[in-house]
Amino acid sequence: MVSNVIEFQDVSKTYPNGTEALKEIDVSINEGEVVGLIGQNGAGKTTTVKLLLGLLKPTSGIVKLWGEHSYTLLSKTKKRIGFLLEDKGLYENLTVEENVLFWAKVYDADEQEVEKTLKGWNLWNERKMFVKDLSRGMKQRLAIAKAVIHNPHFIVMDEPTSNLDPVSRRTVVDLLKGFAGSDRTIFLTSHDLYDIERICTRVIMIRCGVIIADGSMEELRRQLKVGKEVKITVSRDIEGVLRNNISKRYPIKEIKDREILVSGEHCDTKDIVRFLIKNDVDVERVEEKKITLEDIYIEIIKEDEDR
Ligand SMILES: Nc1ncnc2c1ncn2[C@@H]1O[C@H](COP(=O)(O)OP(=O)(O)O)[C@@H](O)[C@H]1O
Ligand SMILES: [Mg+2]
Repeated sequence: MVSNVIEFQDVSKTYPNGTEALKEIDVSINEGEVVGLIGQNGAGKTTTVKLLLGLLKPTSGIVKLWGEHSYTLLSKTKKRIGFLLEDKGLYENLTVEENVLFWAKVYDADEQEVEKTLKGWNLWNERKMFVKDLSRGMKQRLAIAKAVIHNPHFIVMDEPTSNLDPVSRRTVVDLLKGFAGSDRTIFLTSHDLYDIERICTRVIMIRCGVIIADGSMEELRRQLKVGKEVKITVSRDIEGVLRNNISKRYPIKEIKDREILVSGEHCDTKDIVRFLIKNDVDVERVEEKKITLEDIYIEIIKEDEDR
């Protein structure tokens, strides 16, 4: 039986200064799902994470973890959760190994897990180094390693792949991907679609505190109407009656001088070409462009920045 781990029921969060960070969020997440919450800066990702961990109380609505209110979790339930926040919770003047050992003690984890965890997150050779001497990428791996030392059933990570150079980022993404391939439930945030796409099986897109899409990458493509676009270059300007007729018949996005831009999943390019030729317009070039989810996401970001 698939059981429900997280439940947001009509959750809104307004901060004391009046900022409405989340508006009427309804989401439930099942055991074993690897969910990525993606959105621009200020979209409400960290607020969602804090509500999940019970660090914030919703203004209205209910957040539940395994059926318990997240704001008043029992301590034995808390031990089933691993988390990584923006402040990584590392001790700079302790070594890598000491940091992990410390958290193992906090969570009553088996000390034998320390070696296994350090090896699993590629930190075994650095175990005697002080945290303050580590690179950003190593610190991030350590922060994740210590967050999962007690083998939690549910792991929440706020932007685990941010602020890393491309190589470290790749390593962290690959390690998280391997880690996610088990029956643990994972919830992570990112403003980068690429990371989410690599790690998660389900993506929730949030914008200004509202969920705008939720599902597998394939479902997101459908929800956000990701399709194709065809650019037809013709021999002369399309004007007057012809222009009207084409626009009426086909899903035209734009006609500019000698270029016709057709959008939509169901556009029949051959039919448009036949129609043009019948109307004495020669077709010089037909280019098909598949719109990706990345294109749509960038479009959304651009709109938000222009506001
Ligand atoms: N403690 C706070 N007090 C007032 N406003 C806040 C506070 N924390 C976050 N916000 C605002 O709430 C919105 C969502 O923030 P946040 O959840 O941190 O977004 P994200 O993590 O997606 O960048 C933003 O407009 C942010 O400025
Ligand atoms: Mg944030």
